[in-house]
Amino acid sequence: MNTMQTALGKLHLASPVTVASGTFDLENFNFIAQDCLGAFVCKTITRHPKVGNPPPRLFESEAGLINSIGLQNPGLDKFVSEYLPRLRDTLKIPLIVSLSGTSIAEFVEIMQTLETQEGISGYELNVSCPNVENEGIAFGVHPDIVYKLCSALSPLTRRELIIKLSPNVTDIASIAKAAEAGGADSLALINTVYGMAIDYKTGKSLIKQGIGGYSGIGIKPIALALTYKACQAVKIPVLAMGGIYTWQDALEFFWAGASMIALGTANFIDPTAAQKLYDGLNTHLQEHNLQLTDIIGKCVV
Ligand SMILES: Cc1cc2nc3c(=O)[nH]c(=O)nc-3n(C[C@H](O)[C@H](O)[C@H](O)COP(=O)(O)O)c2cc1C
Repeated sequence: MNTMQTALGKLHLASPVTVASGTFDLENFNFIAQDCLGAFVCKTITRHPKVGNPPPRLFESEAGLINSIGLQNPGLDKFVSEYLPRLRDTLKIPLIVSLSGTSIAEFVEIMQTLETQEGISGYELNVSCPNVENEGIAFGVHPDIVYKLCSALSPLTRRELIIKLSPNVTDIASIAKAAEAGGADSLALINTVYGMAIDYKTGKSLIKQGIGGYSGIGIKPIALALTYKACQAVKIPVLAMGGIYTWQDALEFFWAGASMIALGTANFIDPTAAQKLYDGLNTHLQEHNLQLTDIIGKCVV
């Protein structure tokens, strides 16, 4: 077996490295070879186009990034007619489509449309968005809603069904268990952590929306703890992300139980980060005569 092979539910992948939704597009392949990634995860798409939030919507803090992009995307119809054909033409690796809805019915509608399309290996459900059927509270914070969403979607597809969890919850284990019980094939975590930045001289928020999503190096310990907790709670595999930059960071997440890892904010800092991580991890595993399976979930606590 190739040292770098991994499995994420139904997917058998040549690399355990991927990229986090919204942080990497096809142009990034000018900087890295496709085969260092096990899969490509696209920016979240929604039923209707979204122009996103007004600026300023990005702020670089001491130890990461605060963003409030607001799921800017062309919407499902344009995704299917224009972007998906480009992805199909360009990608030599499996495509995972990230999607989000404002109701369970909308998630169902998007997935049913995508099921008619070829060239998709899996779906990543972004549940950090407001649910109009639940007073606008995010889907991902309620085990019952997560269970209902996964139960509604899992019978609709034979493709990999990944649910991407929010870190902004009190008990990640109960949410992870609800996703597993509802039929999710794997979990992805974490999405961004609530974050804010204020100009100390004027008192003005540096993000127009006030609160944004914090990502990058500063959230790594949070992501690692939540990955560990989720992996302890469920049997389905976990795709981990949050502050991962280097192959050493990646190894920490594999020890904690992740079967695959993604780079997000790191892609903005160094567009070759994924390649460096892949090469470093490969060398380390070979030098120590290790398979990933020797490491995954074997951390000593
Ligand atoms: C600019 C930006 C845009 C993002 N857009 C999305 C998105 O569309 N869908 C999604 O599920 N997550 C999105 N994320 C969250 C990332 O996919 C990832 O979960 C998070 O940034 C944590 O990983 P990191 O610390 O490696 O960046 C975005 C993050 C950033 C920084």
